[in-house]
Amino acid sequence: MQRLKKTVVMVGMMGAGKTAVGTAVARALGVPFRDSDEEIVKAANRSIAEIFERDGEPFFRARETEVLARLLRGAPCILSTGGGAFLSDANRALIQKAGVAVWLRADLDLLWQRVRHKSTRPLLRTANPRETLRQLYEARVPFYSQAAITVDSAADLSIDEMAAKVIAA
Ligand code: S3P
Repeated sequence: MQRLKKTVVMVGMMGAGKTAVGTAVARALGVPFRDSDEEIVKAANRSIAEIFERDGEPFFRARETEVLARLLRGAPCILSTGGGAFLSDANRALIQKAGVAVWLRADLDLLWQRVRHKSTRPLLRTANPRETLRQLYEARVPFYSQAAITVDSAADLSIDEMAAKVIAA
């Protein structure tokens, strides 16, 4: 088993492929994979959409910070995060101290193609989700670009090809 020195934290927009690519990276390296959204869902015993609806986004963000802190204290792994996880100063500091952030960068059209048919993302339940996605993207790029490593996604790359790019980077 290859050893990781630090947890590799996948950051970036919804639809960037953080979970799919992170899973493939972990499999290729023979290291554990964790997903912060999944941990939040497990602990709350309800979906992300239900958490946003019933408890509100601030509650979700507080759970997200707790989960990140806990996972980053544990053994190194590949850790996929939700699209908003790298925005707060506290989360970024935590991630940059205990892990290595990898921004999966994808252009807006590709992200939209991937998320448009899914209704699972509460932040995109707006009158104009395409415009909402654009606004989130614009607002978030300055944060994602603070990741230690940036890997570009492209429509013609498979998950395994993306994983190979992440490992090489
Ligand atoms: C969010 C992205 C989602 C999830 C939540 C909030 C965001 O994760 O954490 O809906 O703020 O962009 P994915 O990036 O895996 O879709």
